[in-house]
Amino acid sequence: MTDIELYEMAEGASEGAYAPYSGYRVGAALLAADGTVYTGANVENSSYGATICAERTAAVKAVTEGKREFEALAVAAPGTGGPAWPCGICRQFLFEFGGDLRVICGADAEHIEAVTLDGLLAHGFRL
Ligand code: THU
Repeated sequence: MTDIELYEMAEGASEGAYAPYSGYRVGAALLAADGTVYTGANVENSSYGATICAERTAAVKAVTEGKREFEALAVAAPGTGGPAWPCGICRQFLFEFGGDLRVICGADAEHIEAVTLDGLLAHGFRL
């Protein structure tokens, strides 16, 4: 699974977004250590704070299927003209499962960039 392939899965996953309030459709593709990919999209709510991001949707699907180790996460917001780096809540949520996660973002598949979660979240919280 290349970074571009994972990013393209995130692009496809954005089609599952429910974003009637912002119109900002995000897709995520999370590659588990066993090679399984879990996708997700943002699901908004009329009580705006109840909205869940694409990244956490994918992570919740994976974790509730028993996965705990992850290699990479791609995030895409096709047509928005820019990359969709994970928000602060999602960074902490993912940090629970390891700071060495490879996070792949970009405005499109030809302009992706990969960094570690540790690089995105300084001094993430652990109990
Ligand atoms: N959103 C995500 O899905 N992931 C992010 O990392 C940032 C924001 C969603 C939440 C909301 O539905 C919309 O994008 C606008 O904030």
